[in-house]
Amino acid sequence: MESPEREKHGGAMDEKVCLITGATSGIGKATAMGLANMGASVVMVARDRGRGEAALAEIKEGSANASVDLMLTDLSSQEDIRRLADEFKDAYPRLDVLVNNAGVIRSKRVTSADGIEMTFAVNHLAYFLLTNLLLDLLKASAPSRIVNVSSAEQRNGTIDFDDLQAEKGYKTAKAYGQSKLANILFTYELARRLEGTGVSANCLHPGAGVRTNLGSGVSGVFGFTVRALTPLMKSPEKGAETSIYLASSPEVEGLSGGYFVKKAEARSSDESHDERIARRLWEVSAELTNVPAHNL
Ligand SMILES: NC(=O)c1ccc[n+]([C@@H]2O[C@H](COP(=O)([O-])OP(=O)(O)OC[C@H]3O[C@@H](n4cnc5c(N)ncnc54)[C@H](OP(=O)(O)O)[C@@H]3O)[C@@H](O)[C@H]2O)c1
Repeated sequence: MESPEREKHGGAMDEKVCLITGATSGIGKATAMGLANMGASVVMVARDRGRGEAALAEIKEGSANASVDLMLTDLSSQEDIRRLADEFKDAYPRLDVLVNNAGVIRSKRVTSADGIEMTFAVNHLAYFLLTNLLLDLLKASAPSRIVNVSSAEQRNGTIDFDDLQAEKGYKTAKAYGQSKLANILFTYELARRLEGTGVSANCLHPGAGVRTNLGSGVSGVFGFTVRALTPLMKSPEKGAETSIYLASSPEVEGLSGGYFVKKAEARSSDESHDERIARRLWEVSAELTNVPAHNL
């Protein structure tokens, strides 16, 4: 039986395969539900089996779409990301939409199993590595789309090449802002490199103050502000609207290298448009993930 949502969207994404990271909660889960409602085959990436299976059951039931799958991956681990890319390529012959959405905010400097500062590892390097590992499949599936979830916090970010991983001093907002600016620089550089391939790359801000788990465990001023504003925040479904739009709308078919807010193109910070910074960040990221810098 079709769900009312599925009927409303009329299977607009039937036959499309979408991979979504951070699909256990918040904006990622709402994006998975939205695309499943449109009839897409959705592959949800989660690091925790319990949370992953709970979200999987919720989306299957809510969308009445049986083509929803779960793959377990800790996106702070490059070995895990490589395993995910292999597992995905073994299971699926095509990839129409990759949504890089998983993100963290940390109060203190923590390092990943690879010894990389956690915010930089999950919010930026995981986007970079997973995308690079899936590029061949995305190109073979063209027209296909890459959607990177950034944040308006990109405006407060700067790429500190002298201390990318906050070894000299850690500040929550600085690390988060840098990672969200990195999402945009990565998207713009990727779009330039993908010109003529039929694979688009766009990024977005989901809207300020979406009620999710992000920042819930953060202490200090940042965490206090997040918790104080929680009752006023918008729903994850509202926060997922621009991700779903970029993943599925015919209005953006062929459009690449854009930053979107509320389903409309917007201007990101001046630094995000600096091509030298984008190229340098690409090279450093390639080195940190062992991807050939000229993979593209
Ligand atoms: N909420 C907002 O107001 C807001 C505003 C601007 C931008 N954003 C962006 O929106 C995106 C989604 O965040 P959200 O607000 O929906 O937050 P959220 O509810 O905390 O969701 C984050 C997702 O990322 C996953 N994740 C975190 N670390 C991971 C890891 N190492 N491996 C695998 N998955 C991991 C989480 O999994 P677990 O369930 O296992 O923790 C969760 O599914 C982020 O990129 C964020 O920067 C959010």
